[in-house]
Amino acid sequence: MVRRTSPIPSTTKCNISMPRPIDPFAPWALRGLALRNRFIKAATFEGHCPGGKPDREGLAAFHGAFAKGGAALCTVSYGSVEPGGRTLDDQMCLQDDILDHLRHVTDAIHRHGAKASIQLAHGGGFSKWRGWLGKRARGPSNGLNSLGMLVGTPFYRALRLNELPRLAEDFRVSAERAVQAGFDAVELHMGHGYLLSQFLCPAINKRRDEYGGSVRNRARFPLQVLRAVRQGVGDAVPIIVKMNLRDGFRGGLEIEDSVAFAKLLEANDADALVLSGGSSSRNAMYLFRGQTFVHALIKVQRRKIDKWVYRMAAPTMKSLPFKELYFLDLAKQVMAAVDLPLICVGGVQSLASVHRALAEGYQAVQLGRALIHDPALVRHYQEGSKTESGCTICNQCVAEMDRDGVRCVLNDALPTRVRLA
Ligand SMILES: Cc1cc2nc3c(=O)[nH]c(=O)nc-3n(C[C@H](O)[C@H](O)[C@H](O)COP(=O)(O)O)c2cc1C
Repeated sequence: MVRRTSPIPSTTKCNISMPRPIDPFAPWALRGLALRNRFIKAATFEGHCPGGKPDREGLAAFHGAFAKGGAALCTVSYGSVEPGGRTLDDQMCLQDDILDHLRHVTDAIHRHGAKASIQLAHGGGFSKWRGWLGKRARGPSNGLNSLGMLVGTPFYRALRLNELPRLAEDFRVSAERAVQAGFDAVELHMGHGYLLSQFLCPAINKRRDEYGGSVRNRARFPLQVLRAVRQGVGDAVPIIVKMNLRDGFRGGLEIEDSVAFAKLLEANDADALVLSGGSSSRNAMYLFRGQTFVHALIKVQRRKIDKWVYRMAAPTMKSLPFKELYFLDLAKQVMAAVDLPLICVGGVQSLASVHRALAEGYQAVQLGRALIHDPALVRHYQEGSKTESGCTICNQCVAEMDRDGVRCVLNDALPTRVRLA
């Protein structure tokens, strides 16, 4: 049996009442994968794959910056497991023709002493994809596809029973390819309203077969994917699952079901859970909190139809109050139910929050916006030159994704990339 965490976990108890605090800068291990500290770069779509091909130098420099800046594990985003799973024009699909490019990226990460993870995902009924001869996107049930509107296919259709094994295979093969390209871990995207999260969501999954209804049934396909990926990558590669604690809209996944789902993930050999929430298509601000980025998003769109669709979506993207560790209260319910390493994401904006997250029961933290603002933040925390990230949660970096790649508008520290045509 492969160990999930380090042989001497930092949480080892001196006595029953006094757990030793976790040192965020000390090494640990996840399923035998040695990590130099507890800081993980969260998956933030980079916008470095023009035409769907990773821009070798740009993507390598982008992730090299976080690795050089001290992060232990850098998560490359968003690797679609089949062409129909993309939610943006310039997303990569894990096919053989991009493996050399990805190898360049993992080499850059390894060169700076960090490990590389890749987020594997499928957009399901939220895919910006028309497909061949106008084929529609596919989700758990029939529904309206807000991204599909941009490409003239506003509806998605329910996946047929006989299509599910093939899709699980797509995840497996993609994970195998990722390992071939030098990735040390994979992160399965089961949150934020993408395909596997759509299966879990009662408001979206209306199936009457064994994939719909009870939480066990709604979890069935995500768990099949997890098992398929484990079969593909074997025992040595950690599989991290990013999941929602709550979808955050009426009829969405609620905490009782996400606790049950976390237990099922544990029973099916997941190695760690990243506890997030919200939905990119229905309430993106629940995921991000802070200032809405919808106006910036409208501004950067090149086509009128895209501007129009985002204007229509604006009411679902209103600013929401931000506080540090905004998923912590919900996450405590998962902490009480599983023994898996849990990873904190969402508003880890200061060193004090890192310590608090680890003291509350998380085993590691993922940083998104804080590292976009300052890719060397981990090093700065460790050296004592900073205790706060400096990110203002203006969320403009999210809109920048659609312009020329993710960057912080306050601190342009990330490398630029090949310009889109
Ligand atoms: C520009 C940007 C792009 C993102 N892209 C993804 C993505 O591709 N996949 C994903 O799971 N989360 C994505 N996220 C969400 C982050 O992973 C993270 O869950 C969220 O930003 C909250 O963490 P933070 O407070 O540290 O930024 C993105 C976030 C940002 C800011």
